[in-house]
Amino acid sequence: MHTPPASAQTWSHRFDTALHPAIAQFNASIGFDMTLIEYDLTGSQAHAKMLAKTGIISPDEGETLVKGLETIRQDYRQGQFRPSIEAEDVHFAVERRLTELVGEVGKKLHTGRSRNDQVGTDIRLYLRDQIIRLRQQLKQLQAVLLSLAAQHIDTLIPGYTHLQRAQPLSLAHHLLAYFEMAQRDWERLGDVMARVNVSPLGCGALAGTTFPIDRHYTAELLGFGGLYANSLDGVSDRDFAIEFAAAASVIMVHLSRLGEEIILWASDEFGFVRLNDSCSTGSSIMPQKKNPDVPELVRGKTGRVFGHLQGLLTLMKGLPLAYNKDLQEDKEALFDTVATVQGCLEAMTLLLQQGIAFRPQRLQQAVSSDFSNATDVADYLAAKGVPFREAYDLVGQVVKTSLAAGKLLKDLSLEEWQQIHPAFEADIYDAIAPQQVVAARNSYGGTGFEQVRHALQVARRQLEQA
Ligand code: ARG
Repeated sequence: MHTPPASAQTWSHRFDTALHPAIAQFNASIGFDMTLIEYDLTGSQAHAKMLAKTGIISPDEGETLVKGLETIRQDYRQGQFRPSIEAEDVHFAVERRLTELVGEVGKKLHTGRSRNDQVGTDIRLYLRDQIIRLRQQLKQLQAVLLSLAAQHIDTLIPGYTHLQRAQPLSLAHHLLAYFEMAQRDWERLGDVMARVNVSPLGCGALAGTTFPIDRHYTAELLGFGGLYANSLDGVSDRDFAIEFAAAASVIMVHLSRLGEEIILWASDEFGFVRLNDSCSTGSSIMPQKKNPDVPELVRGKTGRVFGHLQGLLTLMKGLPLAYNKDLQEDKEALFDTVATVQGCLEAMTLLLQQGIAFRPQRLQQAVSSDFSNATDVADYLAAKGVPFREAYDLVGQVVKTSLAAGKLLKDLSLEEWQQIHPAFEADIYDAIAPQQVVAARNSYGGTGFEQVRHALQVARRQLEQA
């Protein structure tokens, strides 16, 4: 009789000797793919039910498999299932344990499927859950942005282009810009979900199977929205993973931009926000310091998420059809992307909720001490019939002479204004007051208070719909 290799592998007896331990270690994914175990069990239960329904195994056998898999789930949850490296991966680990638990019938579970369609099923089920969670987190972030915005409709903040003071804004308008980004992120993940939620189960190793399986039934049991129509594509497609990593990268871009603004705002140079103790740390040597660690870490972690996207693209670009072991490398990239984005969303939401406080006086002082109302002087003249370009040149000169005289536009006397142009009247002072400068931008989507109030209403409705 043929003797199985010393360290019993799950593969066929075609192998005479055991894997070199270093190669076993190198080959194994059990060190990270246990993250998938619950999805693996769920997928296998659906497969077992299908095998019974189609008569490939008996109803009793089907029930034994489903129950055995459930026992493994309970054991795992209670910390009593910790497979070792010998199992190679989570799929082998479960199958072996099942056979230990239920005997010979456990060996029937793998009828009509392969680890290739199995692992594809597992990561899709996993990603589906993670996308649901991420979308909830985005809604929480939006809720916090919305409530902050509602408190700060009348708070003004300098608006920048090129990081130079440009025009003052309602702080609510600024915050709602991030609400919009989060809304797109939420929608984008919804789009990705449509392509994640497709069943490869039953594609077999690459070519389908000789058994009369029912792929529609397993897809339905697992809540998939559709099935891969081509078995080769089904086992080797990772577009959905790339799309997910791309959507995750865009989320990180948004969080990182917001983070960067908060870092600037918390500096003495800006002084627009104060960091509260719950979300900032001190320095080990400089006692006066309070550091914006949360937004800095978010900014920093953005790089690794981009890296995972690049990694997945590169992983796929040279792969011939169908499954190749390279695909085992998709997992850590996905798991780390999920953990990183979820962690960043949670931290950023907390930071906005309780970690920072805007400083209205500093903000008021900032918007009243610059020339960010210069456009409004030009608009004032243009409204009185002076061609805009001419008005623009005139105001440019006024800014220049005022700067030289150490004056702001509001400090000019009416006589001075009228020397510049006879069209100026006493209402120029109202027109250049920051509050009015903001209010006047009442074009759709602008920072005018009326527009901002409207935007808040729309935002509230969007949140309720989710
Ligand atoms: N651990 C493998 C992975 O993560 C499971 C699939 C293995 N399939 C194979 N034909 N070797 O991709």
